Order: sequence, then structure tokens, then C-alpha cells
Amino acid sequence: MKTRITDLFGIEHPIIQGGMHYVGFAEMAAAVSQAGGLGIITGLTQGSPENLAKEIARCREMTAKPFGVNLTFLPALTPPDYPGYIRAIIEGGVKIVETAGNNPQKWLPALKEAGIRVIHKCTSVRHSLKAEQIGCDAVSVDGFECGGHPGEDDVPNFILLPRAAEELKIPFVASGGMADGRSLVAALSLGADGMNMGTRFIATKEAPVHDNVKQALLAASELDTRLVMRPLRNTERVLKNAAVERLLDKEKKLGPAIKFEDIVAEVGGVYPRIMKQGEMDAGAWSCGMVAGLIHDVPTVKELINRTMREAEEIIGRRLARMAKAA
Ligand SMILES: Cc1cc2nc3c(=O)[nH]c(=O)nc-3n(C[C@H](O)[C@H](O)[C@H](O)COP(=O)(O)O)c2cc1C
Repeated sequence: MKTRITDLFGIEHPIIQGGMHYVGFAEMAAAVSQAGGLGIITGLTQGSPENLAKEIARCREMTAKPFGVNLTFLPALTPPDYPGYIRAIIEGGVKIVETAGNNPQKWLPALKEAGIRVIHKCTSVRHSLKAEQIGCDAVSVDGFECGGHPGEDDVPNFILLPRAAEELKIPFVASGGMADGRSLVAALSLGADGMNMGTRFIATKEAPVHDNVKQALLAASELDTRLVMRPLRNTERVLKNAAVERLLDKEKKLGPAIKFEDIVAEVGGVYPRIMKQGEMDAGAWSCGMVAGLIHDVPTVKELINRTMREAEEIIGRRLARMAKAA
């Protein structure tokens, strides 16, 4: 399939694997890129620019195809060494960066000068337009369904994507709730040039996470995610578990007076325990409503190939037949 996104990134299929904390290691990114999509290493997960440089080198040993690096700009008291991470990306020869969180404007000149294409993740049309205006090459439009941080507007993709299509000139991918060929065709018909998947890629053979995480996704339904940290205006969609129940209890009891320190036990530094040790109640971890559509743990190649087969079948047969009959 050929779209503006496959052209922009030089990939075979319009499928991106979004950066995911403690999932986006070289094994994940290389498997997606090797299968013809765009795999993404999560920058901050590596812990330091030196480790990111090593991870980029490891990924390059696993695939000769294009892959990217995610840089998430979070408000922090002591910010990560972003200039160092950017240097590691440029020196590592990476040509695609997925930015997320705060406005990436400050970092664009260095990235652009190095010939890097930037796709910024946005949860609203206004942020997408801003990304276009400051010179991003594409955006990933993340609907309310998404795993992780859906923002505070709560607009689901059935509205958000066609609204983005009405306003944007640069290409965009649909993100949030994407699982298969049906999602891809829907995304394309709503105006996107491809799709970004997070949660779905965790339930694959190559995802470098504990098997308990994959089993939790298989067991979960679309009713099993919760929104946490809304009172802090840092809303995150996570899979419900004992820690999340505790966190929501605190939010109810403390109301608007709640501070990050009140919930640090449930959200601070919990990812390694969950993703590596498989301690499924250790804390809150991002997960999309799309968990309800995850029923197996295929290889990444199987997942991508069947997605493309299904999409082509829907477009070429099901929809074509309906259009012809009309
Ligand atoms: C476990 C997990 C960790 C994530 N970590 C990050 C992150 O560090 N940075 C980021 O920009 N997005 C992160 N995301 C969001 C994904 O890149 C993607 O936008 C989102 O998962 C799309 O929604 P979906 O899960 O419904 O496919 C994370 C998502 C998950 C499920």
C-alpha cells in the first residue's frame, strides 16, 4: 500500500509502532521495521543518551530498514538530558523522530538540520495545527481511546480524525484503538494516511516484556481501562488493577487537593516492575481500550501481514462489492 506516510518514511506498510515506555527496545522496533512498518525505540526508557546510542546500534544490527526514536517531552523538575538524547539520535544516523508531550519547537532546528523527519503525537486538532505550523512533517493523532495520555478533551477518533483531515495539510496517522485491517481501512477513510498502534504491539511474540503483560492484555476487555491522574491534568488511560483501584480511591478522597506525591507509590518508577518482572499489580501502566480486540499473541510479521491482507480484502472486495451493487 502506498500513502503519504509510506512515502515520507520510506516504509512498505502505513503502520507505525508508537513509542512505549519499557516496551520500545531494539527488539520491538526492529521487528516492526523488519516487517515493513515503522518501529520506534523509546528514548527516555534507555535512561541515558549513552544507552540510547547503544540501543540504536543494536537495532541497526537487527534491521537495515528505517526505524525511529520517540522523544517524550514531559514537565519535570530536573528534565532529562534532551540535548544529549538528540545528539545520540543524530550521531546514530536515525532519520525519523516521534515527539510527544510538550511542544517540540525548541528541538526542531537541530533535528531538521540533520535531515530528520519529525512526527509529533497530538491529542487535539489545535495541537496538530501547531505542529504543522512549527514545521513537523507529520502528526500522529491520538484519540480518546488511546493507551497512555489522551489529553483532556476526550474526543474519540470517529470525530477527531475527520476533524484533523479538515484542517491539516501535512499527513497524519490515526492513533488510539487501532488493532487490525478494519482499523486501518477506517483510519484511511476518515482521512488518515496510516495508523499508529501501541497496545496491540505489546501482545506480540517479539515484544520484550514479561509474559504476564501479554496474558493481561488477552484477558482484558474494552471495559477494563481506567483514566487516572485527571485531577492533575495529566490524564492517563491504564489497565485496571489493584494499584489503580487504590489510586482512584485516593483521587476520590483527596479531590482537587491531590498532589503527585500522594500517588507516587502507584505511578512512580513502576514500569520496570510491570514490564520486566511481570508484577501486574505493581502500579498503573498505560493500556488502550483496544485490549478488547486483542485475542492472540502473533509474531509482529504475522500481525502486520494479516492486517494488510485484511485491509486489502475489505477495500478490494467488501467495499468494492457494496459500491458496485449500489
Ligand atoms: C505501555 C505503553 C507505554 C507508552 N509509553 C509512551 C511513551 O513513553 N511516550 C509516548 O509518546 N507514548 C507512549 N505510549 C502511547 C503510544 O505510543 C500510542 O500513542 C498509544 O498506545 C496508541 O493507542 P493504542 O494503545 O490504543 O494503540 C505508551 C502506550 C502504552 C500502551
